[in-house]
Amino acid sequence: MGRLDNKTAVITGATSGIGEAVAKMFAAEGAKIIVTGRNEDKGNALVREITEGGGEAAFIACDLRKKDSIAALKDFAYAQYDKIDILFNNAGVLVHKPFLEQNDEDFDLIMETNYRAYVWTMQAFLPEMLKNESGNIINTASISSIWPESGATFYGAMKAAVTNISRNIAKEHVRDGIRVNCICPGPIMTNMTPAGFDEEKAAEAGLLAMGHIGKPDDIAYAAVYLASDETAFMTGQNIIVDGGVCVSN
Ligand SMILES: NC(=O)c1ccc[n+]([C@@H]2O[C@H](COP(=O)([O-])OP(=O)(O)OC[C@H]3O[C@@H](n4cnc5c(N)ncnc54)[C@H](OP(=O)(O)O)[C@@H]3O)[C@@H](O)[C@H]2O)c1
Repeated sequence: MGRLDNKTAVITGATSGIGEAVAKMFAAEGAKIIVTGRNEDKGNALVREITEGGGEAAFIACDLRKKDSIAALKDFAYAQYDKIDILFNNAGVLVHKPFLEQNDEDFDLIMETNYRAYVWTMQAFLPEMLKNESGNIINTASISSIWPESGATFYGAMKAAVTNISRNIAKEHVRDGIRVNCICPGPIMTNMTPAGFDEEKAAEAGLLAMGHIGKPDDIAYAAVYLASDETAFMTGQNIIVDGGVCVSN
């Protein structure tokens, strides 16, 4: 028996990194999943891998910076399943450079992908969840939401906005069968990890409290926990999974 048996889930940013790990773990725990990202080859390969392993998955390409693309994701999801139990908002991008070098284009990219897309996706799925009096929204924020990091100014601000709006929506719908929680990952090895990243140097600089970087599965375990009924009494919270970075600085 899986911890997510009979649940349906939509996972954004599933074509690599954390989202891909979450998709595989959700499917392994029995969830029927819909995965998105812009990269069709990677999305289709992920679906093949999951279905060949006995799971149930479907992919739709989606650019979350476009509202009509999110509407298409919602239509696709509800064409597959009458009810979506879990919305895992996870897609994101990082621009890492000094504040004064960050321009309007950087701001738009970060704000539209890391914040506005989360708002639009929640606004797309929440009405159906409310009709069903049941919905579980999990948003990927970051330790950057709470822990200042030079070079991640716009990124950190938008991640903080994600944790803030999540708590507000959790409060607004606390009596409606809706839960909204965030995961705040620390450094995890993915395509987002800056090119030339040196684990030893990062550890020496105090950026990796445990001395090593995290794996996407470290976040997927927390995602399964939040997606499961084990957290039925939990809403408006942030789970920090950062290898001890926040407590060591
Ligand atoms: N890695 C870390 O250290 C770390 C730490 C804290 C928080 N996070 C957060 O974790 C989440 C996942 O990141 P990751 O580390 O797994 O990075 P990643 O491997 O680069 O994955 C990012 C995902 O976002 C998708 N994406 C980006 N822009 C998109 C758009 N406009 N429309 C649709 N999908 C889009 C990408 O898919 P396509 O390219 O196919 O569109 C990809 O699947 C992000 O929200 C990130 O901010 C990561």
